[in-house]
Amino acid sequence: MVEEALRLYPPAAFLSRTARSRDTLGGREVRPGDTIMLPIYALHRHRLLWDDPDAFDPDRFAPGVSRDRFAFLPFGAGPRICIGASFALQEAVIILATLLSRLRFALTGRRPEPRMILTLRPHGGVWLQVSRRA
Ligand code: HEM
Repeated sequence: MVEEALRLYPPAAFLSRTARSRDTLGGREVRPGDTIMLPIYALHRHRLLWDDPDAFDPDRFAPGVSRDRFAFLPFGAGPRICIGASFALQEAVIILATLLSRLRFALTGRRPEPRMILTLRPHGGVWLQVSRRA
């Protein structure tokens, strides 16, 4: 479930790299010093990589389901991959499990709206109706 949320709403919605040497990428020339933008948000919703990409479907990450290693990059990849990835995933599951065991959350009329400001954030916050579980 956390992975699927990170697919649809990756906090690091784009990454960038500076080219060190001449190369070609998708038929385009890359020169040393060029900035290459990696649009992670678009990658995670690419129709050639994901079925029904805008739908929330945690089963995409069920055990045994395979996918292209580079189709899902919420924590980046390679030498600069996020060193906190495992910690962040465990922390998210623990926080969610703790909250959901005690509280119920329901949508209000105000729906969350993703906004890209360096990182992807819910514009104006996430408004939920919270009640105690019986
Ligand atoms: C959901 C939570 C998180 C997300 C989505 C996330 C995402 C990322 C991404 C995409 C990168 C790579 C940036 C790049 O390639 O340019 C990165 C790097 C990094 N992250 Fe995270 N991160 C998260 C949580 C954390 C936590 C909890 C820690 C520390 C405990 C952490 C520490 C770092 C550090 C130190 C780097 C830089 C690694 C390097 O450049 O060698 N992150 N993170």
